[in-house]
Amino acid sequence: MRYRRLGSSDLEISEISLGSWLTYGGGVAREQAEACVAKAFEVGINFIDTANVYARGAAESFLGEVLAGRPRDSYILGTKLFWPMNGDGGLSREQVFKQLDLSLLRLKTDYVDLYQCHRYDYDTPLEETMQALTEVVRQGKARYLGFSEWAPDRIQAALELPDVERFVSSQPQYSILWREPEREVFPLCSANGISQIVWSPLAQGALTGKYKPGQAPPEGTRAASQDMGWSMDRFRDDDVLEAVQRLRPIADGLGITMAQLALAWVLRRPEVACAIVGASRPEQVEENAAASGIELDDATLQTIDEAVAPVVAA
Ligand SMILES: NC(=O)c1ccc[n+]([C@@H]2O[C@H](COP(=O)([O-])OP(=O)(O)OC[C@H]3O[C@@H](n4cnc5c(N)ncnc54)[C@H](OP(=O)(O)O)[C@@H]3O)[C@@H](O)[C@H]2O)c1
Repeated sequence: MRYRRLGSSDLEISEISLGSWLTYGGGVAREQAEACVAKAFEVGINFIDTANVYARGAAESFLGEVLAGRPRDSYILGTKLFWPMNGDGGLSREQVFKQLDLSLLRLKTDYVDLYQCHRYDYDTPLEETMQALTEVVRQGKARYLGFSEWAPDRIQAALELPDVERFVSSQPQYSILWREPEREVFPLCSANGISQIVWSPLAQGALTGKYKPGQAPPEGTRAASQDMGWSMDRFRDDDVLEAVQRLRPIADGLGITMAQLALAWVLRRPEVACAIVGASRPEQVEENAAASGIELDDATLQTIDEAVAPVVAA
C-alpha cells in the first residue's frame, strides 16, 4: 500500500481507503463487515470514512465497536455532518457541537482525524459554520476539516475568511464515469492545500464489470439488494453498462481486474489523495488494495477515454 499526504495536514493516508455508506451497520451482515475491516488493516488501509447519517448512526456505532480494540493512532478516522438526523441537520454552531459529540460517542473515541461538512448549508452563515468548526479543532475533538461536494464559489468563500481553520480535504464523486470535479474543484483545491478523497470510484460497483447490459444484476450485489439497489439507477442503463464492458479488454491486457483499472485511473491524478471504496466482502478489500501502485500510461488512458466517451458525465 502506498500513502499520500492529505492536503496541508500531517496525515499520510492510504491510497485505497475504506468507506461505510450503505454497507456497515446496514446492508452488509455484521460478520462480513467485521471481516472487511480486519482485511483493511491487514493490507495497509489506514483511513476509514463514515458519516453520522450512514445507517442513521449505525455505521459509526459499528465502527466504534470494531475499532475499539485497536490503538487509536493505528487508523485515521473521518466522519461528517449535515444531513438530517432525528430532525436536526445543517451546519449551524449548535449542530456542529451537538453532532460531533454524538459521533464521538458512537465512535467511542475522543477525537476524529477529519471532520467533514457533508454538503454546504445555505441556511447558515458560512462564518458561523467555520467558527464552530475552528472551535472543535482547537478543543481537540477534530484534528482537521474537510467538505464534500461544495460548489467552487463556496470553497473560495471559506478560503477567504480570516482567523479560521483551513480545510484539508474535499470529498467529491469521481470515477471514470463521473469527471465533473476535474474542471474547477481540482485546480482550486490544489492551489490551496486541499486534497481530493473521492467517493464511488467504482461507480458503486458498476465499473467492476459485473453488471451486464440487458441482464438482471447478479445475486448478492448492491444493485440486486433491496436495501442498497435504489442508489444505483443511474449506473444501470444499458449504454453505460456497454461502455463499461469495453474496458474489460484494457484491464485484461494489463493483467489487472476492472476494479483495479478504475481505482488506478482515479489515483493517476496527484490531486487525489485516496479512493474511498466500499466493500461487502474481504476479498474485495484485498483486490481493491492491490490497485495502489498500478500506473496507467498515456496510451491506456486514451483507450479508456475512447471506450467510455459517449456516457461520461464531465
Ligand atoms: N460524501 C458523499 O456524499 C458520499 C457519497 C457516497 C459515498 N461516500 C463514501 O464513499 C465510499 C465509497 O462509495 P460507494 O460505496 O458508494 O461506491 P464504490 O466504492 O464505488 O462501490 C462500492 C461497492 O462496489 C462493490 N465492490 C467493491 N469492490 C468490488 C470488487 N473488487 N469487485 C466487485 N464489486 C466490488 C461492493 O458492492 P456489492 O458487493 O454489494 O456489489 C461495494 O459495496 C462510501 O462508503 C462512503 O464512505 C461519500
